[in-house]
Amino acid sequence: MLAPETFHHSASQDRIDRLVAKHRPGHALARPFYMDPEIYERDLERVFYRHWHCLAHESVIPNPGDFEVFNLASEAIILSRAKDGAIHAMLNLCRHRGAEVCTKQKGNAKAFVCPYHAWTYGNDGALKAARLMPKEFKREDHGLKKLHVRVVEGLVFISFAKEPLDFSEVENLLHATAGQYGWGQAKVAHREMYSIDANWKLAVENYVECYHCGPAHPEYSETHALEQPLHMIEELNAKMEARTCALGIDVGAGDHWQTSRGGKEAIHAFRYALYDGVQTGSKDGLALSTLMGRFTDFDGGVTSVHLGGTTFLVCYADHGMIYRFIPRSVGVCEMELIWLVDAKAEEGRDYDLEKLTWLWKVTTDEDKAIIEHTARGVRSHFYEPGPIAPMEQNELRYINWYLDEVSRP
Ligand code: FES
Ligand SMILES: [Fe+2]
Repeated sequence: MLAPETFHHSASQDRIDRLVAKHRPGHALARPFYMDPEIYERDLERVFYRHWHCLAHESVIPNPGDFEVFNLASEAIILSRAKDGAIHAMLNLCRHRGAEVCTKQKGNAKAFVCPYHAWTYGNDGALKAARLMPKEFKREDHGLKKLHVRVVEGLVFISFAKEPLDFSEVENLLHATAGQYGWGQAKVAHREMYSIDANWKLAVENYVECYHCGPAHPEYSETHALEQPLHMIEELNAKMEARTCALGIDVGAGDHWQTSRGGKEAIHAFRYALYDGVQTGSKDGLALSTLMGRFTDFDGGVTSVHLGGTTFLVCYADHGMIYRFIPRSVGVCEMELIWLVDAKAEEGRDYDLEKLTWLWKVTTDEDKAIIEHTARGVRSHFYEPGPIAPMEQNELRYINWYLDEVSRP
């Protein structure tokens, strides 16, 4: 649908390709990948504008006319629900002279009226009125630019690509994971945005590895067995799978982590145990909210989903977490955390918001600090990428995936 106009293809392309070629397998990325504005532009072109991103849970715009504006990189997206209930995503820039059409962050509107010369757009982006334009002006050619949208198990995904990556394997695995946890019948209990002074990849790389969990996350490591190498928690994991199976649930774990060479989006889902007697990701290990989806009891496990370049999901039996990573500039990114509970759960009766959000708030405060420590370290001209540890297998997978993405036009 869209073709961003502003990428400079030049000699710098060869320079970046040479940097990719110089990457030492099994090692961290070199300094320019976190510092260089041209590599940041390349990231946007080949990762950000090519892959799918989760923007929200659809329960944030439940009614016709509801909308919310999302900012990512240099883009602003209006996510809106039209009269017929369909969700539309369009760029918040007027087709007349480019002004922001929607100036409110969130609300309900029948139409969006540009504050500059009052061109008026419907909820679906169609241009409905343009004052005093000549007879030959075609309104139908001047609707807001639209993005591809998919809604799966309540999650709203967008793609900027002209030809979006095939989403069918992603959809299947989301049904097998988030679907079992009832995310399609969930609601947002809380959202929190973190601004991080670091390149977006440092934030994602930190998210995908748990080698740092032991030293950096004492609270998380009390309850989640992922702080240990996988081969040391095999028995715990087998007990968890047996409990899940006894509940009659088969949560799909599956690996479709692929580069976009084959035209498909990447998704990888894996499961791991909580320590004995722990029900969910809480301070005392006890339940935080009502059970979700097909769960009639706690299985003492977690399902983790990595999807494309920026979307990560965590499913517990009684709540869910969405992690959105948002590039803002070469040295700044944002991370939005979204807490989901069953749509019928009531705050105060079924869950306590402070208890619900405690674990991932303390953990994310710790993560923000270590990501920013790392960003300061890699700014040094003496920084040299070190070897990736065996426990960082998902970090290695992510780096290799990233390098393949940025090395292909
Ligand atoms: S820029 Fe929007 S109406 Fe002119
Ligand atoms: Fe962390």
